[in-house]
Amino acid sequence: MEARASLGLLLLLLPLPSGGLGEQHGGAVGVSSPQGSAEMESGRPRSPAAALGALFPPSSRGRSRLGIIGGHEAKPHSRPYMVSVQSGGVHICGGALVQQRWVLTAAHCIVRRLKGPVKVVVGLHHLWDRGAATQSFAIRTACPHPNYNRKTMENDLLLLQLSGPVSWSRTRRPIALLRREPKAGTACSLAGWGVPRDPAAALQELEVAVLDARMCNNSRFWHGGIAPTMICFQGRHRGAAPTKGDSGSPLVCGQPAAVAGVMSFSSARPEDPLKPPVATSAVGHKKWIQRTLRRGCPRTRV
Ligand SMILES: *[C@@H]1O[C@H](CO)[C@@H](O)[C@H](O)[C@H]1NC(C)=O
Repeated sequence: MEARASLGLLLLLLPLPSGGLGEQHGGAVGVSSPQGSAEMESGRPRSPAAALGALFPPSSRGRSRLGIIGGHEAKPHSRPYMVSVQSGGVHICGGALVQQRWVLTAAHCIVRRLKGPVKVVVGLHHLWDRGAATQSFAIRTACPHPNYNRKTMENDLLLLQLSGPVSWSRTRRPIALLRREPKAGTACSLAGWGVPRDPAAALQELEVAVLDARMCNNSRFWHGGIAPTMICFQGRHRGAAPTKGDSGSPLVCGQPAAVAGVMSFSSARPEDPLKPPVATSAVGHKKWIQRTLRRGCPRTRV
């Protein structure tokens, strides 16, 4: 019974294709099937998506503690670009404020069966903070990358146009995109709220280092699942890793910090050193980002 219950929960976490559950079994989102997990444990996922699950937006029934592992609480408002993307009042993903009306997050954050209207909250430290430091916005337009592929997780980016402009303050400020792709060994960091059960949950942060993409792509690691526009990284302390609700959070590097990428996927066992977390490169998609910020995109239903 236990096993079946947890399998059911896992299915809830997966993005549902238009055809619903039937189609899903045939799809590459193999993590939901026992074969899928076996495949992953042998170290040879058919695609990153086959070992995914961990970072898909949770349902409000998500039960385990799923925040950044081995991180520490961020200094309040030290990352004023961090936003919480919420659906029906539940945190589903992190994101970065890149302009007064635009947030950069991951495409897989917006799945068809959301629990309610999507909203972006800026200026938070504790997830349920409200009041003067925070502002909350509905979404005017959602612009997923047109070539987002939920099987390979390529181009896992989403720009959300807010219903109004953010008023800048000490707690609400934009962040720039990094100019160059960070080299292997670059020190970066990632913050997120995870999927906290504790309503007082505060923003956690994690120091990470960029990994060599070729190594990360080899047969011991992600076995060909790393596209040239992905960035592999690892926690600088053993066992430290982002998990579920940290999807969409910006990977930031440099001084002043700028966005190198957007948290996309990791293994269902986040501490597995051979399946390091992977971000979508923002630098590698700069043209699409800049064009979308200038001109918007064809209207998509959220
Ligand atoms: C990883 O391997 C795949 C398959 O061989 C290849 O298509 C892809 O370009 C490689 N990625 C990198 C970053 O070299």
